[in-house]
Amino acid sequence: MSAEPMFEDDAPVDDSRFAGVLRFYELAKHQEWQVKDVPWGDMPPIPEGKGSPQRQARRRDIWRSVVMQQLQADVLACEMASQLLNNAPDPEAKLYYSTMVQDESRHTEAWLKLIGQVGGEGERDPHLDRLGHMFLDADTLEEKVFLMQVFFERLIIPRFRLIARSSRGTILEDICNRLAIDDGIHHGAGMAYERVLLEGADAKVKNTLIAAANRMLPEFAEHALWRPKAREFVGNLMEARDRERLKTELHHGVRLAKSLGLDVSEVALPF
Ligand SMILES: [Fe+2]
Ligand SMILES: [Fe+2]
Repeated sequence: MSAEPMFEDDAPVDDSRFAGVLRFYELAKHQEWQVKDVPWGDMPPIPEGKGSPQRQARRRDIWRSVVMQQLQADVLACEMASQLLNNAPDPEAKLYYSTMVQDESRHTEAWLKLIGQVGGEGERDPHLDRLGHMFLDADTLEEKVFLMQVFFERLIIPRFRLIARSSRGTILEDICNRLAIDDGIHHGAGMAYERVLLEGADAKVKNTLIAAANRMLPEFAEHALWRPKAREFVGNLMEARDRERLKTELHHGVRLAKSLGLDVSEVALPF
């Protein structure tokens, strides 16, 4: 007997339940990029400051803290994605998660390289660490997919677009544009898999998810509004606008939960 039919027997069956997840697997393979594709050296790593040396140093610290927050998030994402790969029982989902592990680790590699060019690692965002623990310590796969892919990866996309808009013509912009696309795929795959996981789920499971959202959303809000010392003075200027933007994003998150068939009337938004 040749090896070929055996391989076909073992290959995941594209029945309609997993068609969505497998579509995102194909998309992830298609979109895959390499850290060497980033135009390192052809443009400045972060926006170059103008004015006095003190002013320039302060600007650099601000950008370094932006890069640090993203590096911290992607190191946590590596751990999270490998937990999903290890915990998902379905071969189709495992196949997809094998690409997500590679994505998160490639993101980390790019941030490590970039932060090395702008002065090295800085202050950690404590809220991001707490969010990471909420995902990692969640009891069920439904909760992990819900917190990370349905919420976090969707909520983070507008932030990448915002950073990209403020850092035109830099390596930082290039990386943010790549990550916005990747996280769009991570989010879409999570929505598709969560639908499968919630088929026939009872009210108890669904209530756990609502409770998880209620734990996560206030912490996400703190994360989005957090400023390290380097960014405190900008923080005060931008806070009102940031709050407005965040409110819109959180409302969108709640609509997504609703589209998964969850009763979101119990979700309490932080503002
Ligand atoms: Fe990432
Ligand atoms: Fe991601």
